[in-house]
Amino acid sequence: MKSKILVGLNVLMTAMVLGGVIHSCSRQVVTEEDKQLLHEAQSYFEPLPQSIIDEEAKADLIVLGRKLYFEKQLSKDGSMSCNTCHDLGNFGVDNLATSPSFDGSVSGDRNSPTVYNAALHFSQFWDGRDETVEDQALGPILNPVEMAMASEEEVMERLQAMDEYRELFAKAFPDDENPFEYVNVGKAIGAFERTLLTTDRFDDYLKGDVFALSAKERAGLRAFIEVGCMTCHDGPLLGGNSFQMIGAVNPYETEDKGRYLVTGDEWDKYFFKVPSLRNIEKTWPYFHDGRVETLEEAITLMGHHQLGIDLDENQVKEIKAFLTSLTAKELPHFEELEKN
Ligand code: HEC
Ligand code: HEC
Repeated sequence: MKSKILVGLNVLMTAMVLGGVIHSCSRQVVTEEDKQLLHEAQSYFEPLPQSIIDEEAKADLIVLGRKLYFEKQLSKDGSMSCNTCHDLGNFGVDNLATSPSFDGSVSGDRNSPTVYNAALHFSQFWDGRDETVEDQALGPILNPVEMAMASEEEVMERLQAMDEYRELFAKAFPDDENPFEYVNVGKAIGAFERTLLTTDRFDDYLKGDVFALSAKERAGLRAFIEVGCMTCHDGPLLGGNSFQMIGAVNPYETEDKGRYLVTGDEWDKYFFKVPSLRNIEKTWPYFHDGRVETLEEAITLMGHHQLGIDLDENQVKEIKAFLTSLTAKELPHFEELEKN
């Protein structure tokens, strides 16, 4: 009797062990190396925040900002909105080297960066000439090679002439005697931009899910750290938190003196804001001049100009694979707003 039970137990245990073995084969095992890499990554990078504005308390401001973001009447001939160059359905960019002006006559000399996560940057523009998205938004509307409106007054007169804006401005700025102030356009658009945050697989990884990245992507992350990309591209944005010289080791040919144009300080010549690498796979072409078409080339050039190293083909492929894990899982949908 006793031995029968033992045999039974044995069979049961064998089945459990076998089951366990099969189970762990179908699952991936976190190795010591994986743990170390995660730990190191967590010391340089952070997950993006989920929210940086109280969307409920600021709902009226955000609704106005969203409408203004798609408002073509903010351009001289009614042809262009913020969304023209920063298409929210296309990762916040136009994929052009430099963007044409409202009538296509001239082209600016810099590449349009994405507006996704821009509110988290320590300053705005390639040269950091504005600090916040609220200040930044007021620039392009009056910029002659962008939306080319003649004056602040002209902008406000146009908006005030549209019924729907009278109500939206009053609701968004209930304490203002005259809500139709130009600065309020920036406040509203900026509030909307603060909602434009993305989430990707690298966020999941940094929160502890090792297998949110494939083995190749993890190899790329390791290479990214080992060769020193993270000395400039770190923090939650993998960038967006310092100015650095393009061509720090080997000169990069460009007419654009970058930060120098803002400060007039010799030391700032050819310094640019280190761009965020979130969504970088989708925001081609690359660099302030938009001269670089592919991500592979951008990675290779960074190795050469910023670090003085020639990355081999495999390193470039792996780093590229890692960078693709920084692509948003999904983007918000604003189709109806885009049509008007
Ligand atoms: C004609 C195309 C065009 C239009 C229209 C346009 N932008 Fe831009 N935007 C650009 C370019 C080009 C830059 C980079 C310019 C620079 O750095 O000197 C830029 C920079 C920015 C940045 C800074 C991002 C960063 O990483 O530094 C933000 C934010 C932004 N634009 C938001 C807006 C908003 C909001 C509007 C509408 C009010 C708007 N843009 C209209 C082309 C455009
Ligand atoms: C010394 C600082 C520094 C280092 C190191 C560095 N970068 Fe950069 N990176 C920059 C700056 C500054 C820019 C913007 C350059 C410009 O357009 O003028 C940039 C731009 C980029 C861009 C293009 C972004 C865009 O939106 O156009 C990519 C991609 C990039 N870096 C990847 C890397 C990779 C990969 C490495 C490591 C091989 C690396 N970087 C190392 C400072 C650095």
